[in-house]
Amino acid sequence: MMKVSGTALVTGSSRGIGRAVALELARRGFEVVASMRNPDDGESLLAAASDEQLALRVDRLDVTDAANLSMPEGLRVLVNNAGVEDEYLPVEHTSLDLWERMFRTNVFGLVEVTRRAIPTLRANGGGVICNVTSSSLLHPVPFYAAYRASKAAVSALGESLRSELAPFGIRLVEIMPGPIETDMLAGSDRPPEALRYPEYRALAEQSLEGRRSVEGKTTPSAIAAGLIADAILDDDAPLRSGCDPMSRDMLSGWRSMSDQEWLAALTGSGAPGDTV
Ligand SMILES: NC(=O)c1ccc[n+]([C@@H]2O[C@H](COP(=O)([O-])OP(=O)(O)OC[C@H]3O[C@@H](n4cnc5c(N)ncnc54)[C@H](OP(=O)(O)O)[C@@H]3O)[C@@H](O)[C@H]2O)c1
Repeated sequence: MMKVSGTALVTGSSRGIGRAVALELARRGFEVVASMRNPDDGESLLAAASDEQLALRVDRLDVTDAANLSMPEGLRVLVNNAGVEDEYLPVEHTSLDLWERMFRTNVFGLVEVTRRAIPTLRANGGGVICNVTSSSLLHPVPFYAAYRASKAAVSALGESLRSELAPFGIRLVEIMPGPIETDMLAGSDRPPEALRYPEYRALAEQSLEGRRSVEGKTTPSAIAAGLIADAILDDDAPLRSGCDPMSRDMLSGWRSMSDQEWLAALTGSGAPGDTV
């Protein structure tokens, strides 16, 4: 187990998973910097932390504007949680603007914050970087290409960082959430924008059904945060972990099967386009 000391910085802590992880890491004994675009959004988090007498402060951080970011001195843990989703469109109808928006936050913002955190983590004798990606990486769902590609980029970055930073005692863990009860999940419960295009209508309707099938299988953010904190603190945690029953099952299924077996299990045996 990692010795709990020093500061944990969490991005995107105004709500959702980030807010829950900030609180949980404070409960585990870290001094938490709960960063967010608009610090006014941190009022209820500060009140909750003060009720429990936790060491937590709110700082302003927009990950797309991290050039002047200075790291807290005692940094031991960085949780790269901030993320956005966007319209669910077929690739041929997805503008480069959307791709750029998605990558600006989910990839380049995360890279900039991480790049700036590494020297401080190294100077402090090591620590943990925790990147939040998505279990959708394990599922070839249509119309999520830009989102999934941004998370896949973070996943590949994490693999390189895991080996690059090990000599400094900095451990990289990737969390691949399934459906966690947050604004983002609620927002994704909508007809995909792909429905606008007649040639994609049937697939879009099918994908809406698929999205609705997670009803009753969602996990509260506080539970997810507990499992994320466990992975951060566990020196033997694997590179990738889930933080809810669905993502944990998906990861173990994915680990135990060949690509073909996995896709057949997901899709009920190899629909066209389901091979990788
Ligand atoms: N919920 C799920 O089911 C699920 C599943 C898979 C993966 N994830 C991933 O988990 C992470 C958290 O998602 P969530 O469900 O908690 O989403 P959420 O409720 O939409 O919250 C997203 C958070 O990211 C922040 N954010 C967005 N752009 C930012 C920026 N440029 N700088 C700093 N903060 C920024 C938001 O801040 P504002 O309040 O200022 O907008 C908010 O705090 C994301 O990376 C998401 O992709 C979630």
